[in-house]
Amino acid sequence: MSSRRTLASWKKLQLLAQDKKSQHMKTLFSQDNERFNKFSIELPNMLLDYSKNLIDSETMDSLLALATETNVCQWRDKMFRGDKINKTEERAVLHTALRRQSHEPLIIDDENVTNHVQKQLADMEIFVNNVRQGEWLGYSGKRITDIVNIGVGGSNLGPQTVTEALKHYSDGSINVHYVSNVDGAQIVEVLRPLNPEKVLFIVSSKTFTTAETMTNAKTAIKWLTSASFDEKSVAKHFVAVTANRENAMSFGIEENNIFDMWDWVGGRFSLWSAIGLAIALDLGFDKFRELLSGANEMDQHFINAPLKDNMPAIMALISVWNTTFLGSQSQAILPYDQTLHMLTAYLQQAEMESNGKSVTWDGSEVDYATVPSIWGELGINGQHAFYQYLHQSNNVVPADFIGSVESVTPVKGHHETLMSNFFAQTQALMTGVDETQVRADLKAKGRTQDYIDKVAPHKVHKGNRPTNTILLKRIDPKTLGNLIAAYEHKIFVQGIILKICSFDQWGVELGKGLAADIQQELENNNIGSHHDCSTASLMKFYQSAK
Ligand code: F6P
Repeated sequence: MSSRRTLASWKKLQLLAQDKKSQHMKTLFSQDNERFNKFSIELPNMLLDYSKNLIDSETMDSLLALATETNVCQWRDKMFRGDKINKTEERAVLHTALRRQSHEPLIIDDENVTNHVQKQLADMEIFVNNVRQGEWLGYSGKRITDIVNIGVGGSNLGPQTVTEALKHYSDGSINVHYVSNVDGAQIVEVLRPLNPEKVLFIVSSKTFTTAETMTNAKTAIKWLTSASFDEKSVAKHFVAVTANRENAMSFGIEENNIFDMWDWVGGRFSLWSAIGLAIALDLGFDKFRELLSGANEMDQHFINAPLKDNMPAIMALISVWNTTFLGSQSQAILPYDQTLHMLTAYLQQAEMESNGKSVTWDGSEVDYATVPSIWGELGINGQHAFYQYLHQSNNVVPADFIGSVESVTPVKGHHETLMSNFFAQTQALMTGVDETQVRADLKAKGRTQDYIDKVAPHKVHKGNRPTNTILLKRIDPKTLGNLIAAYEHKIFVQGIILKICSFDQWGVELGKGLAADIQQELENNNIGSHHDCSTASLMKFYQSAK
């Protein structure tokens, strides 16, 4: 039995979960008008309402006791002060240092992280201003109009999620494009309309070994040099962001064009570093700093707010409650704000790569459910696609609904329609509608008894489906910084409670290694006998069908 299961709070929560499974939220609401006041948290730019979960005060007290028993606050403090809490890689976890507003020294392995961060911000600012003001010129003396960020996973999703979300704040002087997929279709489409004289590539790769990114970067270099007829043009059109300077330089990136990353920044938490260059180039450096300060505001809240009022901690506890104790296997992220259309993809990596594990940090098998699979889509699109499943399938999918009070691009009548749906959905998912009500409604509409008997069972919505509602004031750099940092800390707290090392990703290595071997076999037309018969036959079929 895992040590978590022996905790008093864990045992209590298991009992409470049995009890709660037979209750309906509708009843809990009818018994307690104060649920919203009790189970919501208001911060300057956002509100979290978690009252539409199968919880009551006793559940929340026990969840908070679990956070205390698992030393969440002590672990949080260790993270912020740079202890090596990424145990399997023996690294500190300091993405929070990238947005720290204080200039106090923070020493890791005899190095002052604050100096590194401040120097890098200064270098980024100079570079961004040079490019945006037309001082950085391409090989033929033209100013840069287009940025292409080549990177995948954390070296893509963070910057792209943010530039998509903050499009409204861009002055449009620079167009930003992303290439993440090794499928040549993407880079060909991205480069097709661009003029090589005016494009700057950012090759973003913490390791500078990711095969897909290297392949795309090589193609981009070929594309440039076949227009410039000059290898030296690479220096004017390629910069890199990496923790592996050596590889970047032997790849052909000019030493002065390399921005550092550090092993204390995980890829999926790196948008606050130079990995965020595309953001800064698109929005300007002041907006990038606002994003950082928004994230820092959430860091301060996470550090200072008592657990019961601590938004990331509560989000994590609710997720653990729904998944580990009540047995939900997936969670939907449903933004009702067009600007957040990439948030679900971003959170898929952030949460699933961090906590999708089945061994505790001390190496024993986890014997409880850990994180749900994360999926979702913009709310309105989802309503007309998969919400049927959310309302009536026999799998319960807890969901985060994220909306904004104000639209950044108000169009008369649109926002009210959007937000009416936003409020209606969480109410419907919670209350549902029972058969008595369905029958009464059909009768009131003058339907025959035969019709009512036939259709009524299909119209029943059981309800009791948990949701969190996050209501933002308005999408802007600060609020977005708040939101993303809240999810980062939620993931951290989840990991601590579940006893999982959230900052490694060994599970992606096996497939990577196999893919490299298979690529060789395909290139040499020499398919080894060590494959299972399915994989070998698929490879042979592919080779012969080419
Ligand atoms: O394969 C997964 C992964 O290592 C992610 O963790 C990371 O964000 C992504 O690949 C890209 O890695 P890199 O920045 O080193 O190219």
